Amino acid sequence: MHKLIKNNVTWVGKMDWELTSFHGADYSVNNGSSQNAYLIKEGKNVLIDTVWGPHADGFVENLQQEIDLEKIDLIVINHGETDHTGALPKLMERIPNVPIYCTANAVKSLTGQYHHPEWNFNVVKTGDSIDIGNGKSLVFVEMRMLHWPDSMATYMTGDNILFSNDAFGQHLAVEELWADLADPCTLWEEAIKYYANILNPFSPLVKRKIDEVLALNLPIDIIATSHGAIWRDNPAQIVEAYYKWSQAYQEDQITIAYDSMWQGTEKIAHRIAAEVAAQSPSTRVKLFNIATTDKNDIMTQVFKSKAIAVGSPTVHQGILSSVSGWLEFLKELKFKGKKAAVFGCYGWSGEGNQVLRDGLTEAGFAVVAPEIKCSWNPLPHELDRARELAAALLE
Ligand code: FEO
Repeated sequence: MHKLIKNNVTWVGKMDWELTSFHGADYSVNNGSSQNAYLIKEGKNVLIDTVWGPHADGFVENLQQEIDLEKIDLIVINHGETDHTGALPKLMERIPNVPIYCTANAVKSLTGQYHHPEWNFNVVKTGDSIDIGNGKSLVFVEMRMLHWPDSMATYMTGDNILFSNDAFGQHLAVEELWADLADPCTLWEEAIKYYANILNPFSPLVKRKIDEVLALNLPIDIIATSHGAIWRDNPAQIVEAYYKWSQAYQEDQITIAYDSMWQGTEKIAHRIAAEVAAQSPSTRVKLFNIATTDKNDIMTQVFKSKAIAVGSPTVHQGILSSVSGWLEFLKELKFKGKKAAVFGCYGWSGEGNQVLRDGLTEAGFAVVAPEIKCSWNPLPHELDRARELAAALLE
């Protein structure tokens, strides 16, 4: 069913309430999501993006309730990833000659995925535009590495809509479409989770791109994302949030993440949490067991933190596999300007803390000197070292 965005622009996407994970199982989806696609019916009829492959049949069926498919003059593909293009092959079976406007890199990603080099590709770059009639046009802005090399945004003049694709989105199903109608706590938590887990590695580019787009002085009434809520009430609010998040973002928060074999390392984790709270009552403290907590949710809290403490017992001269896998993900996300401390128990050789130290340094954290390393079960005086460790993180 279509939903009106503005004037002759409608939403023709998929409200994906049942989605529970994204990027395979790499991103947890707890509140549904959507793949937003848009139909513009002006002098020219334009489809902006499609939906994920499993929803292709429903997408094409719904689309033809809106428009005779033969009357679609062009398709804009802002980004080749399959959640936005999976329905394209099904649609192209029906309208094989329709022009597809996309970046040069999107030609590569679409051809690589769907093996149709014969599709009528029209390569666009920043500043190119198409007159769609009625005094309106589409202007393209390349968004290279936000978050793929093929990404772009499309701006519609006249209606002042920025079709931003993945940028400014959230994995959140909002049946009523608009950000101002969504539950604000969930909306912002999903928006920051999306930024921390998908866009943070590209933060320097986010800042530069926002500066570039702001310099164009385009009036923007609506930011029509490709996932989740669409921003119409002060759409600048999400741009301002991205600007802030892109610059080594941190709040007065410390996150403690650990795994434990026989509760020794767990005891240290809890003592560190108590010490941070005692030394700095205004600092928000979060504590997670890495093995039993969703990794994306922990990373969101790491993103908000000014410092973290990471713990694992020594096992096989290394650390628990739950923690080593988590550290790999941490490295990918390229957080900046944060401190870290390490802790853990050991029975025999005791390499764990050094492995954690090396991993966190590689992940870009400034690892503080104080650490807690306990042979067997922590003794009270060993737990007391949490004072020094907490002080170093808070300093
Ligand atoms: Fe929503 Fe990069 O795909």
